[in-house]
Amino acid sequence: MDRRSGAGADAGAAGRQGRLGVGIVAVTSPLPGDGLRRLAGVHQVRMHPTGSPVSGDELAAFAAGADALVTLLADRVDARVFAACPGLRIVANVAVGYNNIDADAARAAGVWVTNTPDVLTEATADLTWALILAVTRRVVEGDRVLRGGGFTGWRPDFMLGAGLQERVLGIVGMGRIGRAVARRAAGFGVRVRYHDRVPVAPEHAAGAAFVAGLDELLAGADILSLHTPATPDTRHLLDARRLHLLPRGAYVVNTSRGEVVDEAALVAALEDGHLGGAGLDVYEREPAVHPGLLGRSDVVLLPHLGSATLTARVAMADVAIENVLAALAGRTPPTPVVTPPPPR
Ligand code: GLV
Repeated sequence: MDRRSGAGADAGAAGRQGRLGVGIVAVTSPLPGDGLRRLAGVHQVRMHPTGSPVSGDELAAFAAGADALVTLLADRVDARVFAACPGLRIVANVAVGYNNIDADAARAAGVWVTNTPDVLTEATADLTWALILAVTRRVVEGDRVLRGGGFTGWRPDFMLGAGLQERVLGIVGMGRIGRAVARRAAGFGVRVRYHDRVPVAPEHAAGAAFVAGLDELLAGADILSLHTPATPDTRHLLDARRLHLLPRGAYVVNTSRGEVVDEAALVAALEDGHLGGAGLDVYEREPAVHPGLLGRSDVVLLPHLGSATLTARVAMADVAIENVLAALAGRTPPTPVVTPPPPR
């Protein structure tokens, strides 16, 4: 594997030997598992010297001349990259979300875009429940209190939280992860309602009730969990108005994308006492976190750990590598999200 950023420096070495020969694969970050080693046995791998995030002109310069590009969710892939890589066949994103990639520009350039669905579903649903429990039962706050010397003995009124039984969990976005979150709810005695564009088949709903209107879902949700992709339509889906539709004392949990929530409005709804708390794994300007969240004891803040199990992360890398191998062999990659139009 090469570790250099010199655009095109290796293009001469391997060359693009015809459509299905050895390709140049630009990779922005080391990945867990042995997928990259397998890839390097077949193609020429060009590693970014410092690693993700890499965006804009820097990414275009790094990827120039590549046949395939492997990216992380913090790398921004826009038209500049496609212009710099006329032979590019695939952008393989190591994430289920692909809002970091300009899908229209990829389609126009005739490039596959792939993601890594399924393999992270259970890990992300588990982490969602970790946040639900942590924020409703004040787990992280309790740990801090104890370490700070605040545990002086059991008291009947000490650090009381909210129980889950008979509460309503509202799920926004009933895709794979939303459904996996719903499946786990039965064990906690929570009633689940969900909103999506259309109802899912009953066998996928895990007993959750469909609510056609988002506002209606919010009005009845004691805990709201977001599982919708970031698109122009879902940006600030949870804004000040909608946050205040939630019942007073409700909790907001987000393991999807930060952009779905207006973070400043969320801080305001916590500050004015409308919300009971929030459990967040993702942020609007990641890795920056709104300063109004950092000092609060009623929020639990995680550093984007939804898929962070070794099993899931190795599987994500493997899926991305399989996508690259397929595209460079002229096959349809296993998990496409943008399919290039057939050549005319
Ligand atoms: C993580 O956030 C992912 O999209 O995989």
